[in-house]
Amino acid sequence: MNKHYNIPVSRPDLSKEDFYEIKKAFDASWISSKSPWVEKFEKAFASKISRTKYAASVNSGTSALFLALKSLGIGDGDEVILPSLTMIASINAVTLTGAKPVLVDCKSFEDFNLDLKEVTDKITKKTKAIMPVHLYGYSCEMDKLIRLAKRKGLFVIEDAAESMGATYRGKTLGSFGDIGCFSLYSNKIITTGNGGMVVTNNQKLHLLITKLRFFDFNEESHFTHHMIGYNLVLSGLQSALGVSQVRRFTKLLSGRRNNLMLYKKYLKKIDNYFIPEPLKGLMPNYWFPAVIFKDTKVKNRVESNLTEKGIETRLFFRPLHLQPVYQALFKNERYPKAEFFHKHGLLLPSYEGLTEKEIKEIAEFIDASV
Ligand SMILES: Cc1ncc(COP(=O)(O)O)c(C=O)c1O
Repeated sequence: MNKHYNIPVSRPDLSKEDFYEIKKAFDASWISSKSPWVEKFEKAFASKISRTKYAASVNSGTSALFLALKSLGIGDGDEVILPSLTMIASINAVTLTGAKPVLVDCKSFEDFNLDLKEVTDKITKKTKAIMPVHLYGYSCEMDKLIRLAKRKGLFVIEDAAESMGATYRGKTLGSFGDIGCFSLYSNKIITTGNGGMVVTNNQKLHLLITKLRFFDFNEESHFTHHMIGYNLVLSGLQSALGVSQVRRFTKLLSGRRNNLMLYKKYLKKIDNYFIPEPLKGLMPNYWFPAVIFKDTKVKNRVESNLTEKGIETRLFFRPLHLQPVYQALFKNERYPKAEFFHKHGLLLPSYEGLTEKEIKEIAEFIDASV
């Protein structure tokens, strides 16, 4: 059972309007993935959030990544390059297709995103795709990455699970590559409880993804299937929640950015830690405020003091090469920058409704603990 916190690290923003939208779908008996609310949600997501021509809803961000890889024909014998510092879902989607994951380190001890030089070095004849992960709502230089991929004839699948609303040079993260994948899990800026979205500007890919996500049911003959499809759809009830949440997206996004500004205002002992500076042209969504402590002992003390006070935090991801389940695959590989961020990083609470007073209290408590 989850420990009860006075201030959790995350809390979904659920309103009466959300409930009424779900009730409308419920009352109309449109609860499954055939519901008109599904298309309504996808259209709203594509126009207001991903800013892509197409969006296909699925039951999780992990399913989104899996279907993206599948739709590009990636599988056995192929290699996919991704960062070591990411959530386990990124690599699981790759291994599920049978492709080989190839890891790269972070750019520097200040920038936890992908090192493009190392990406270039890791490209082989078998490489089919690069999967940048926009960690904690930050990205690498996406224009350079896209140029590199084009030059080498590689696909780009953006793991935008955490980066809803973030932009680089005015363009939405998730809309740069061949396909972008979002998560709608309950700790994301908008949520459907669980869920995900696969976005693209390529009509052919979009159609293929919509077939793959639901058994390759088709209009020509419902029970005649030409390819192996899956059942990874989002329900009508979840989509109704999504429709209502999208309406508040701009407000929820600026709320996250405002929370970060407030942490910056109240965190004073900046000799002890730093909040990574975004690249020039990058507007992160600041999904969670990420703080990097210079001394791990101090970070550990801050974390345990906050926990004791009922304030929840999150550690940075354990790098993929250090995951017990993947250790054999990356036996002699080291990614020192990813390991550094894992040991030194801490994510602070951020959600709609977290007050300035609470942020001030958290910041002052951190400063008293360093
Ligand atoms: C970077 C990253 N990729 C993929 C996922 C998977 O998303 P989901 O939990 O919706 O399957 C997550 C989860 O939040 C994530 O953080």
